[in-house]
Amino acid sequence: MRLNNKVILITGGATGLSGEINGIGGAAARICAKEGAKVLIGDINDEMGQKTANQINEIGGHARYLHLDVTDEDEWVSVYKSIASVEGKLDILVNNAGTGVPNYDPSLTSARNSEEALMVEHITVDGLQSQLKVHAQGVLLGMKHGIPLMRNGLGGSIINVSSIHGIVGTHTVTSYQAAKGAVRQLTKAAAVQYSKENIRVNSIHPGFTKTPLTTELFTNPEILSDRVSQIPLGRFADAEEIAMGILFLASDESSYVTGAELIIDGGVIAQ
Ligand code: NAI
Repeated sequence: MRLNNKVILITGGATGLSGEINGIGGAAARICAKEGAKVLIGDINDEMGQKTANQINEIGGHARYLHLDVTDEDEWVSVYKSIASVEGKLDILVNNAGTGVPNYDPSLTSARNSEEALMVEHITVDGLQSQLKVHAQGVLLGMKHGIPLMRNGLGGSIINVSSIHGIVGTHTVTSYQAAKGAVRQLTKAAAVQYSKENIRVNSIHPGFTKTPLTTELFTNPEILSDRVSQIPLGRFADAEEIAMGILFLASDESSYVTGAELIIDGGVIAQ
């Protein structure tokens, strides 16, 4: 039991149904529950989030679903109020909620899959802001209101899910890259600021991973073979392989790790 009695909040953790393709947060919820954690799932997909929590409880784990739109500060405040009154503490926060849908210039809709439609000069302000809102603002708010609750305990671990595209450039996801780059740097700021209180803050940088978010990438043979050709290990990751990195950073095994970037990408950005 690597997380015995730890309280962990995972945002975007709804997609964890057994027998289906899991998201990274859903897979992390199942794995962390197996390791003895009390798992709180925060998401906007209430139906699936509740089902995932129910399934975890049915197999002897401990999970509770809470509606949470990570862009909404008031919702963060009420989620943490609920955790303070029910679980009484917060040990681990996984800021995982995200959307990968690129925001296209509407005038280029016909070129949806063309790289041109996604390059800097075609990015709209609305598109940029919607990515920053979910990823950067969501992560900031989660840390802002979660840190005081961690301070009540013996410290804690915050894991922010960025992407390899928060580190290196690419043709296809400009606004997403700006937002994931912000997640990477917010992580380092918080790591430095809260280290004295034993609150560790790290970022995870997944590469191409089979999840509900990326269905289009791995079911379209042309896109799939293009992406796989970029991966030294020659295949997409399963969500569980990313979740194992989250488990490591959540557990006391990583007690000396803070401000770090854990890249789990089959070697893509080693090239
Ligand atoms: P997913 O679709 O399974 O999970 C995303 C979850 O976030 C969903 O449950 C969705 O309902 C939730 N969500 C979206 N907006 C939200 C909001 N405003 N408030 C609360 N919840 C919200 O997809 P996946 O792939 O597991 O994504 C998880 C994270 O991993 C995301 O941050 C994504 O950007 C990141 N990532 C994914 C990669 C991939 O190849 N699948 C690669 C690199 C990073």
